[in-house]
Amino acid sequence: MNIEVFLTEAEIAQEFAESIEARDLPEKFFYWFPRSVRAWLDISQNSTASCFRQCWENVSDHAQNLAANADSTVSVISFGSGDGAKDRLLIKALEHAGRNVKYFPVDASQTLLELACSAAEDAEIETMGIKADISSPMHLVLASDAAESPKTFLVAGNTLGGFDPLDQVRHLAECMHSSDRLIIDGEIFHEAVLARGEDPATRRFALAPLATVGVAEDDGELRFEHKRDDRHNGLHLVTRFFRADRDLTLGVPGEPTLPRGERVFLNFRYTYTPEAFRWLLAKHAGLKILEEIVSSDGYCILAVCSR
Ligand SMILES: C[S@@+](CC[C@H](N)C(=O)[O-])C[C@H]1O[C@@H](n2cnc3c(N)ncnc32)[C@H](O)[C@@H]1O
Repeated sequence: MNIEVFLTEAEIAQEFAESIEARDLPEKFFYWFPRSVRAWLDISQNSTASCFRQCWENVSDHAQNLAANADSTVSVISFGSGDGAKDRLLIKALEHAGRNVKYFPVDASQTLLELACSAAEDAEIETMGIKADISSPMHLVLASDAAESPKTFLVAGNTLGGFDPLDQVRHLAECMHSSDRLIIDGEIFHEAVLARGEDPATRRFALAPLATVGVAEDDGELRFEHKRDDRHNGLHLVTRFFRADRDLTLGVPGEPTLPRGERVFLNFRYTYTPEAFRWLLAKHAGLKILEEIVSSDGYCILAVCSR
């Protein structure tokens, strides 16, 4: 297995300790620990995620339009690839359309990256994994420079929603050349998003990094809150935090305490109205939307974009 490393395990461990200190855990830690990987795979393989799978299956039917220059090899770079299951649907369709594909899954989670690489290798796809921090514009450029244009960038499974989407989508657009494509999905805001705070699998996922350092759900309160991002109409987000109900000692080097009443902010997730999703891509990031697919339940939207 071939994995290029721009972000080391030691750097992630150091950042985790600092994030615990700052009481604010960024998105990458929710896929890093074995407990988190298990919790994420439970969610991504269950029925609530089926709208994403459906969009990636449907877009694969349009394989001819998913990469420019129909004769050449296409490099597929997936930012936040996870286990790469959706990426492989698309790659197989490109191959069936006669394209030669090189695959570059990019992720901060060593375990998920290994899953993506080994499954792609089993499917006889030429693969090089890249361990990088996709919240860093520099890492995005380094990862995209690992391959030659024409490139097809993938951002699947509402990965965009785990970051500030306004910043992240612009950084993604900056990596693209005229012959490149970006295929990106987003979750449409709907009532069920608000009920996720009661779903045991989602609660397990949200608490997994803290559970790994010894915090149990009954040590405090795990809260989900729905907010609107006032920078543009139709941008919704659900934030999550844990508030300790008693003094806790955390199982990380130095054994820091989380005193009673203190909060740790967990990762957040954006969802959008279809108009806000289009605005992000077309107006805010200046991309052209070449094709759009909405799942039959209306909960997932996917766009194929060029510069
Ligand atoms: C919502 S999951 C989507 C995974 C996959 N694309 C799918 O559709 O199943 C987000 C992915 O982004 C990765 N990720 C989160 N923050 C990251 C960061 N800062 N740098 C690199 N990868 C990150 C996670 O490890 C995870 O695999």
